[in-house]
Amino acid sequence: MYRFVFTQVLSRFDPEDVHHLTVRALHLLSVTPAVKRLVHRRLAPRDPALRVRAFGVHFPGPFGLAAGFDKDAGCVEAMSALGFGHVEVGTITAHAQPGNARPRLFRVPRARGIVNRMGFNNAGAGAAARVLSRPRGVPAVVGVNIGKTKVVPESEAVQDYVTSARELAPLADYLVVNVSSPNTPGLRDLQAVELLRPLLAAVKEVADATPRRTPLLVKIAPDLADDDVDAIADLALDLGLDGIIATNTTIRRDLDAGRAGRPDEHWDETGGLSGRPLKGRSLEVLRRLRARVGDRLTLVSVGGVEDADDVWERLLAGATLVQGYSAMIYEGPLWAHRIHRELSRRLRRRGVTDLREVIGLTAG
Ligand SMILES: Cc1cc2nc3c(=O)[nH]c(=O)nc-3n(C[C@H](O)[C@H](O)[C@H](O)COP(=O)(O)O)c2cc1C
Repeated sequence: MYRFVFTQVLSRFDPEDVHHLTVRALHLLSVTPAVKRLVHRRLAPRDPALRVRAFGVHFPGPFGLAAGFDKDAGCVEAMSALGFGHVEVGTITAHAQPGNARPRLFRVPRARGIVNRMGFNNAGAGAAARVLSRPRGVPAVVGVNIGKTKVVPESEAVQDYVTSARELAPLADYLVVNVSSPNTPGLRDLQAVELLRPLLAAVKEVADATPRRTPLLVKIAPDLADDDVDAIADLALDLGLDGIIATNTTIRRDLDAGRAGRPDEHWDETGGLSGRPLKGRSLEVLRRLRARVGDRLTLVSVGGVEDADDVWERLLAGATLVQGYSAMIYEGPLWAHRIHRELSRRLRRRGVTDLREVIGLTAG
């Protein structure tokens, strides 16, 4: 049904217009308590075997919504009701900013991917804090992903992240330092360990000072050299971080896209590529991280996840949590629900009652 609507209707419109319309519809769902609760009852993961505990937080299922969809935290309840086990909001910056000029979001449907150069369009940390402090009508696990305000010079980046962390860490189930988006000039340079160490140390101090001690993770790019992945893993262990999210979008275009025939019209647009073309590299980075850190850090795998098989593969490879975004554009609003339902069946077939039995099983 959704596929028909997508090919016949949605794909004819600008993807960002469709996104804004979707967010508005989800907002409507959020402000209708009875509907919201009903949808949650029908679609949110309920199988106890799907439950997973990571860095002290209980997740109803392992599959969550990656950052970038809910930039201003307005869809947390709706997306949780639709079946995501957690919602990572943001990227949020200390100051409100408009992002890059449109068009900045492109479908690459033959490759089942997305190219975006949004540039952290968001209403700022203060506005997000106001939204996140409202009581919720359905349970939701919320990660807050923070990034650098574009106009802030790199020399003041640490202070800028700290400002966001102060506003948002107390309201987050976990906090993510994003240093891996390709659309803010200089941002990915912060992945160099000598710059990353003081940044993460400063944000950690803020996260540690909240009443519940907010877990802290760092989100990395798929385009790092393998040695740099190792270096960040070592740094995360050294600083006592809770986990690593891998990966963000790629600036590469030489990845195997499984493209049939003609390349997609927007394949070569400037920006970060996500979806199916990212699958192989994302899994590779996960395996590298797992080999380096074992189960000492929580690994969150994201990039090219399309179905329950992909989630299963990431769990086996050592991810405790898995996220996705791009495939939802092609699969529709029931995507997360279907993935959890299929995972649930698979666990039952194998007689698995606790997801911990699966995580890292093939990681050696
Ligand atoms: C339109 C769009 C916007 C995104 N914005 C952000 C962002 O603001 N912060 C972030 O950390 N990741 C952002 N991402 C990256 C996703 O969180 C995810 O890491 C990446 O898309 C790979 O997952 P996927 O292949 O399932 O989409 C964005 C992705 C897309 C497609």
